[in-house]
Amino acid sequence: MQTIFSGIQPSGTITLGNYIGAMKQFVELQDEFNCYFCIVDEHAITVPQDRLQLRQNTRSLAALYLASGIDPEKATLFIQSEVPAHAQAGWMLQCIAYIGELERMTQFKDKSAGKEAVSAGLLTYPPLMAADILLYSADLVPVGEDQKQHIELTRDLAERFNKKYNDIFTIPEARIPKVGARIMSLQDPTKKMSKSDANQKGFISMLDTPKQIEKKIKSAVTDSEGIVTYDKENKPGISNLLSIYSILANKSIAELEQAYEGKGYGDFKADVAQVVINAVEPIQTRYNELMESSELDEILDRGAEKANLVASKMVKKMENAMGLGRKRR
Ligand code: TYM
Repeated sequence: MQTIFSGIQPSGTITLGNYIGAMKQFVELQDEFNCYFCIVDEHAITVPQDRLQLRQNTRSLAALYLASGIDPEKATLFIQSEVPAHAQAGWMLQCIAYIGELERMTQFKDKSAGKEAVSAGLLTYPPLMAADILLYSADLVPVGEDQKQHIELTRDLAERFNKKYNDIFTIPEARIPKVGARIMSLQDPTKKMSKSDANQKGFISMLDTPKQIEKKIKSAVTDSEGIVTYDKENKPGISNLLSIYSILANKSIAELEQAYEGKGYGDFKADVAQVVINAVEPIQTRYNELMESSELDEILDRGAEKANLVASKMVKKMENAMGLGRKRR
């Protein structure tokens, strides 16, 4: 059975973009693959975080993973900082990564642009992400489009390590969905939907109320043409809404274009909002139950135990390959 690894940062609210680009894929993959899903809190601290808020977001993300359908009997769900191997392997991989290649990462460029003080961790974020993936010998990494460059770097680091030290890493591949790999902002459909968007109307949170969802979709920026067709270049707003509708209702874009022929944007947007509400509501119900229960901690304890077992073995192999510590008998 092939192995899958993926992670989500507990940095604020989880958006519909995270759900469509990542979480929804995870649920579909857990039956066929040996899956590890991680709450990457060590990645979240590359930018300033409030400690209580971070703890709250970590718990909330764990509940959301489960509420969206991750089955802890099938997949291993855990918190990154509860498995020390990630930081250990991250350090070793930092030592084989070049500053130049890290500076070329678009996420680093975006997040550091215009900032006076940028943490070193923001630059060395990709080797930590590579460690996450390589520790579990993952074959596939399901992610949205924006993470593709980081997976390519992971492959480069793994190949470099294998060549230089010892052939211990599996070279992973990104698994990017055909539709929905880049859900766009509702207010500026040329930019990706992001939780860090200053304009709250640009993104839908997985915990938004039906009223908030309706309002946000109603005020989504479109165009003045009045025709519901997919044209990413000239109609990015309508195309984005069509992608969201298509994925959540499991209908093809062509089918939707036909269904809305001759209808205005008002009808279309009302239906998109309903489709989003239908997808999100059952997840929220289960989420609220989980946040109240002790089940969550038990699942995370078991997850950390399982992940530690696998990851600490790989760290030993890495240390051995690099000559760290004493020879183990
Ligand atoms: P993060 O936390 O920013 O996002 C989590 C996942 O959601 C996807 N995503 C989107 N997909 C479609 N449309 C969008 N608008 C959108 N916004 C976010 C992301 O592509 C991602 O799959 N570096 C990672 C976290 C990470 C990781 C890993 C991922 C750390 N270690 C190891 C995979 C494997 C990140 O910042 O994702």
